[in-house]
Amino acid sequence: MTPLELAARTAQRAPSILNTQPWTWRITGNVMELSADPDRRIGSIDPDGRLLLLSCGAALHHARIALNSAGWATTVDRLPDQERPDLLARIRLTGETTPDPEDWRMAAAIRRRRTDRRAFADEPVSDFELTKLRRFVESEGTYLHVVRPDQLPMLAACVRDLAPGSQVAVPADAARDRGAAYVVLFGVDSQPLDLLRAGEALSALLLLATADGLATAPLSDAVEIAWPHQLLRGLLAGLGEPYVAVRLGHARNREPLPPVPRRDPRDVIAITD
Ligand SMILES: Cc1cc2nc3c(=O)[nH]c(=O)nc-3n(C[C@H](O)[C@H](O)[C@H](O)COP(=O)(O)O)c2cc1C
Repeated sequence: MTPLELAARTAQRAPSILNTQPWTWRITGNVMELSADPDRRIGSIDPDGRLLLLSCGAALHHARIALNSAGWATTVDRLPDQERPDLLARIRLTGETTPDPEDWRMAAAIRRRRTDRRAFADEPVSDFELTKLRRFVESEGTYLHVVRPDQLPMLAACVRDLAPGSQVAVPADAARDRGAAYVVLFGVDSQPLDLLRAGEALSALLLLATADGLATAPLSDAVEIAWPHQLLRGLLAGLGEPYVAVRLGHARNREPLPPVPRRDPRDVIAITD
């Protein structure tokens, strides 16, 4: 298998809204193109395709990590063709490079990462870890707000009892979840490029947290629906546009969660010469 095909397969492990995996890859020579698959957008919860773009960004970051950790240097052009808005990114192999050990840790975390909706242990996430995650998210061009304890009631109001069928990742018994930390990824705008980059930052956050032994669960209910979205904006005190929240903590239950099934790679990855 070529490095690009391997990277596309690794990217299938990326998290996505309701596990829709709304992307495809086309590999030609030393180039791989990531496209959105609009047919997999869930209109009821994602009318503008924001969550679709975040999910595709996560897949893009997974592919980048797979290639860089294997010693491949790459260039990435995001939204390279105005005439083709579904073409989200073009990754080109440019040669070999010495992998950054941090990329190895992240690559190893790709297999282990799961969305963990169980209650977390009482041990809090340290300020040191939260600062590290914030810096890492910033290095991907997005900002991270760590929700303060006094802001938790507002966040709870944003994510509670929303649309039927919504996949709320806050355990019902919040009293058993005291060690959880909540963070919100945000940025200055919500253009497609902002959302794609935010998806990359989400992946970076989830993989680094996993590599550091934390359990994670993205939470998008608060940003999917108009009124909680406004509340969340208020929580950011006008600093920016909320993209997605993430619940982080130490797993109470060390039993690994089984992997959630993925699409058949033949439906996702096309190889042309
Ligand atoms: C943008 C985005 C939003 C998500 N929102 C939620 C959410 O609100 N609630 C939830 O339980 N999981 C949420 N998830 C997690 C997905 O359900 C999960 O990634 C998918 O089912 C695959 O499972 P895995 O992450 O364990 O591989 C979200 C994931 C992404 C990428």
